Amino acid sequence: MLRPPLRLPCPPRRAASTGPGPGRRLLLSTPIFYANGPPHIGHLYSALLADALHRHRGLRGAGPGRLSTGTDEHGLKIQQAAAAAGTSPPELCERVSGLFRQALTRAAVSFTDFVRTSEPRHRRAVCHFWGVLRDGGALYKGRYEGWYCTPEECFLPESQLAERRDAQGRPCKVSLETGHQVHWTKEENYMFRLSAFRGPLRDWLRDNPQAIAPEPFYRRVLRWLEEEDLPDLSVSRERSRLPWGIPVPNDPTQTIYVWVDALVNYLSVVGYPEGHGQWWPAACHVVGKDILKFHAVYWPALLMAAGLAPPERILVHSHWTVRGQKMSKSLGNVVDPAASMEHYTVDGFRYFLLRQGVPERDCDYYEEKVVKLLNAELADALGGLLNRSTAPSINPSNTYPSFSQACFPKLLDHREANGPGRACAEDYELVASVASLPLEVAAYFEGFQIYKALERVALCVRQSNGFFQRHKPWKLDRADPGEQRWLDTILHVTLECLRVYGTLLQPVTPHAAHRLLSRLAVGPEERGLSALTFLPRYHGDPCPFEGRQLGPDTGLLFPRLEMPGRPRVDPRELRSPTNGRCK
Ligand code: MSP
Repeated sequence: MLRPPLRLPCPPRRAASTGPGPGRRLLLSTPIFYANGPPHIGHLYSALLADALHRHRGLRGAGPGRLSTGTDEHGLKIQQAAAAAGTSPPELCERVSGLFRQALTRAAVSFTDFVRTSEPRHRRAVCHFWGVLRDGGALYKGRYEGWYCTPEECFLPESQLAERRDAQGRPCKVSLETGHQVHWTKEENYMFRLSAFRGPLRDWLRDNPQAIAPEPFYRRVLRWLEEEDLPDLSVSRERSRLPWGIPVPNDPTQTIYVWVDALVNYLSVVGYPEGHGQWWPAACHVVGKDILKFHAVYWPALLMAAGLAPPERILVHSHWTVRGQKMSKSLGNVVDPAASMEHYTVDGFRYFLLRQGVPERDCDYYEEKVVKLLNAELADALGGLLNRSTAPSINPSNTYPSFSQACFPKLLDHREANGPGRACAEDYELVASVASLPLEVAAYFEGFQIYKALERVALCVRQSNGFFQRHKPWKLDRADPGEQRWLDTILHVTLECLRVYGTLLQPVTPHAAHRLLSRLAVGPEERGLSALTFLPRYHGDPCPFEGRQLGPDTGLLFPRLEMPGRPRVDPRELRSPTNGRCK
């Protein structure tokens, strides 16, 4: 085996535009999805996490941003899937890529770029990248043999294999992690000198403790680098066995390994090899835990070998199981995102996955849980509060009511709440809780804990319902000016809370948030997160909404849902005690 000396390029430099502060660029990415079968909720979850982060960033005015996604179309897996479907790989990819594009669009994933690895721009980027690796001495040709797992598209060491019997009862080996059968493969391949990168990878991670989140995944990668073998990586396959892929430049007998091909999508999307300097390495990859090693070990090593810096961050999530079981076609329990969005609405399904999905651990999906959560938090608590506080019986002028400081005086210490006003200690707690909400939500988004942000919003919504219920504004006598002032103040505080919730929910439930904010007469330019204030009148500042005519759409914010399989009731007919309008 001839190993040329590896010339490690000079230390990767950060792009000038990527430092902290306003105007900072960021490329957020989803993984590119294998074009061998239709999308399922696991795929959608990866994409929704990235989308919520991208939308949140946009609303903060954080600087130019892109959200890339796409389809991973080469490799043995796709070649075999096409053969099994009796079609050609290009035809299969064309169809499945279309399904992904459609599903992501339907799910309101606001991607700015969609990469297909079969596109010429991507092929050009991969070939250039390969040339840089080769010229830098990072590749050499060698005989490689090992156990190949086609569904995972990688070689696995003995330590990751288990003995099983195949369908015919013959002994075979399978991947410990996924249970997929592996096959002994012996070929002449190009090898990438991954082993040379153990030190540089460790240094990169030690210097960048935020590079991989959540923290348990960061520690896992460090452990791999400290305790496990890091053999060189086979980065091509014999073309005679794998014609469906990008040929190795200047060696048409070999096809570039599908993972090298796929990872380069993050560069081809920003114009590599020409225009990428504007964006790279200001990149943040959202990935599932099954593809962590490819993104946190192979990809940074390949980038370093090509003279580029590793991505800024890798955000990792765990998996969805269905009623405690792994999702699989053979078990027939694959959750179809299209049917789910049809039943629970796009916003409902987005809310469920992002509210219940905890990146650190696997989450279980079952329908009762979806229905219960959405009815409780979106239909009853949030939608109910909007209906009750804007009902004609309680707000006949249909305006954003005014706030009375006499009724709700500003207090330095909430324990003095039984002073001259009508607000009680719990009301002051509500004000403090909602006032701190935008910053807390921002911190949770930054820390990749969107579920915690949503939990915190849901808690505030419950507190606001408590406020409304406690003061029973519908019982106040509007003929009495003092009562009228207090009634208006209760409504003003409630609408202010709702305005904050609507603004903060935009990255997660964009349609419902739009309806909510439109009903509250919040203009499109007033929906950003950077200037979000809550209850300025409490501090003696003017409130631009006070006295405004409310928006005309009085429809339900979110319909109460039935369990799937039960007859669906027209949402307009649905009136629960809290969801229905006040009489
Ligand atoms: N093509 C590769 C990625 C290449 S990126 C340079 C791939 N594709 S995939 O279609 O198999 O997976 C795409 C994403 O879906 C991954 O983030 C993966 O973790 C995620 N999920 C697949 N099944 C999942 C669940 N059951 N639950 C949550 N996400 C899971 O890997």
